[in-house]
Amino acid sequence: MIDSFETEFSAADLLKGLAGGNWVAQLEKLTQAPVSLTDSAGNVLLPSRDSAVPPATRAPVQIDFEPIAWLHSNCAPDTLAAVAGMLSLVLQNRARYLMAAALHSEVSIADFQALQQRNLDLEESEARYRALAEQLEQRVREQVATIEVAQRNLYETERLSSVGRLAAGVAHEINNPMAFICSNLQSTRRSLGKIQAFRDSVVPGDSAWLAAWQERNLDKVMANLFAMQDESDEGCRRITAIVRNLKGFSNVDNDEWLEVNVSDLLEQVCSVAICGWPGDIVLERRLRAPVSLRCRPAHLSQAIHALLSNSLHALSDVHGVKKIILESSLEHEQLCIRVQDSGMGIRTEHLARVFDPFFTTRPVGAGIGLGLTICRDVVLAHGGCIRIDSSVDEGTCVNITLPLPAAGAR
Ligand SMILES: Nc1ncnc2c1ncn2[C@@H]1O[C@H](COP(=O)(O)OP(=O)(O)OP(=O)(O)O)[C@@H](O)[C@H]1O
Ligand SMILES: [Mg+2]
Repeated sequence: MIDSFETEFSAADLLKGLAGGNWVAQLEKLTQAPVSLTDSAGNVLLPSRDSAVPPATRAPVQIDFEPIAWLHSNCAPDTLAAVAGMLSLVLQNRARYLMAAALHSEVSIADFQALQQRNLDLEESEARYRALAEQLEQRVREQVATIEVAQRNLYETERLSSVGRLAAGVAHEINNPMAFICSNLQSTRRSLGKIQAFRDSVVPGDSAWLAAWQERNLDKVMANLFAMQDESDEGCRRITAIVRNLKGFSNVDNDEWLEVNVSDLLEQVCSVAICGWPGDIVLERRLRAPVSLRCRPAHLSQAIHALLSNSLHALSDVHGVKKIILESSLEHEQLCIRVQDSGMGIRTEHLARVFDPFFTTRPVGAGIGLGLTICRDVVLAHGGCIRIDSSVDEGTCVNITLPLPAAGAR
């Protein structure tokens, strides 16, 4: 609140700081007699130059008709009154000036304080908005993370179950024709055995048979038939093994924890993965850890499958050796699985991002960018860790380490 209007200035206040200061000499020039000034209480404000005691004759110095001091002099009374009146005017103007100055500084201070308050209010509201924005950002980040996890889970589930369905369907379709091929092969082998027995027991004793047999070079034909029979048996055996592996793989939407032999699991993944691979890709298996591992076999198989598939893609534009090594070993009571390729490698600036969901350098539509994300999730869910070493144009090595139960606990 502005209260400068209320200020009452004393004569001493008004005289303070007035320019010149040699008032008595100036006043005496007007009165032609010694002059002094006292306040209402009789205190001398401006002493006379001749005597310390003010003369008895005095005239009031007034502001707004209120005497604030008395001018003493023995000059003519009307001169004294005129000089006192002039001094009143000077002091009244001085009072107005001081009041205006006080008012101005009060207003300025009030304005400044109001400004400061507004500034504080603004700072407070800015801080509130900033906190709100941070909260919002945090919530958006959380929501995005939740959506990403949900998308990944959905994608993983879908991919797992579609791979599973496909594998199960293929296994089933192959099984039926395989059954009769195997049965026919057995019959063919039995028939061949009968012909061979006939050849051994009858043909040598009958010259006509022997001549006809030799003329048609049937020994060689028989030998070829036996060789082809062996090859076909081997082919059937391999197809049966693939079907068995496919069946194992088709169990992928099963997230049960089971005790499995790691080498068998890796073999199974390989046999499924390499179907349809170009002939110039060499897959070398160095499976040196035939240990039993408690795991989610379907998930682990998918993870290794994703790594083999990445290596295959990395080799597609490579000239020269196209090799993938799948290795398992035991190191410090831990199971290490390595997938190493001589592919194009990963650029340094990409290396930190390859586990990010949906990060892919493959052409649009070719890769989704979830292979490594899911692989890492699976490894983490098994209490393990995954690391990638890669050099451009040299190749990539993905290292997975999985904990095994302590020796005593196995
Ligand atoms: N062995 C590898 N050699 C070179 N680059 C690789 C290799 N493995 C992964 N990458 C890089 O990491 C990226 C991410 O791999 P990730 O498996 O997550 O996704 P993707 O293969 O692109 O797609 P998808 O989801 O179909 O697997 C790849 O696009 C590729 O750039
Ligand atoms: Mg991939």
